[in-house]
Amino acid sequence: MAKSLILLCAALAACFALAAADWSQGTATFYGGPDGSGTMGGACGYGNLYNAGYGINNAALSETLFNDGVSCGQCYLVLCDGSRPGGQYCKPGNSVTVSATNLCPPNYTLPNGGWCGPGSPHFAMAQPAWKNIGILQAGIIPVLYQQIKCLRNGGVRFVITGSNYFLLVNIQNLAGSGSVGAAWIKGGNTGWIQMTRNWGANWQALSGLVGQGLSFAVTSTGGQYIQFLNVVPGGWQFGMTFNTYKNFDY
Ligand SMILES: *[C@@H]1O[C@H](CO)[C@@H](O)[C@H](O)[C@H]1NC(C)=O
Repeated sequence: MAKSLILLCAALAACFALAAADWSQGTATFYGGPDGSGTMGGACGYGNLYNAGYGINNAALSETLFNDGVSCGQCYLVLCDGSRPGGQYCKPGNSVTVSATNLCPPNYTLPNGGWCGPGSPHFAMAQPAWKNIGILQAGIIPVLYQQIKCLRNGGVRFVITGSNYFLLVNIQNLAGSGSVGAAWIKGGNTGWIQMTRNWGANWQALSGLVGQGLSFAVTSTGGQYIQFLNVVPGGWQFGMTFNTYKNFDY
């Protein structure tokens, strides 16, 4: 009884969401091992996805969804669409929320670049994430998806790499809209310096800030602006990660 009630509610929630919200059609496959191995690292530069706050429910997005890294960290609610061809491989009434952590590049040995070719909205998910909505025998399933608000534990994190005259900062674990729209850095002896996206979720500043304490300011793609003042002490070294206590609502 309890179990069927839960299933019914899950199905109803999906139905209400379906009626109310803006769903788009796409497709989904899985990659990597049953434990999510092979999905770590990736084109957003998050490295170990557990450490970065994204965990196993992650996905590589096709070029059109990845948007040159703008989508890194965004969250997508994905349902299998039983009404389209391949729908027999759906687990009806189920959904999964995945974070964008990687790029699924087009494969030009296939017509139109295959599933991840230009114009095709596709999610290549970690296998444990995909198994929530699809039957493993299937290679590819039709899905409905929408971007949703991200929930994260803790604050935004900054991972600093680079060299003496070039700082590369991976900005991760954003809640709310989940992704970075603009970023600034400020050394103890400088004003605010605008950063630019280098690749994925890595933002660069062409400045020698070694030895200075650092502050950051970030605008999420949802338009919220937050300052993270003095979050990096002057003794920082390349490769270090700095946690903060602030995060985004949108
Ligand atoms: C591209 O598609 C071909 C044909 O299916 C396949 O053999 C090859 O492994 C694919 N390449 C990648 C990188 O997935």
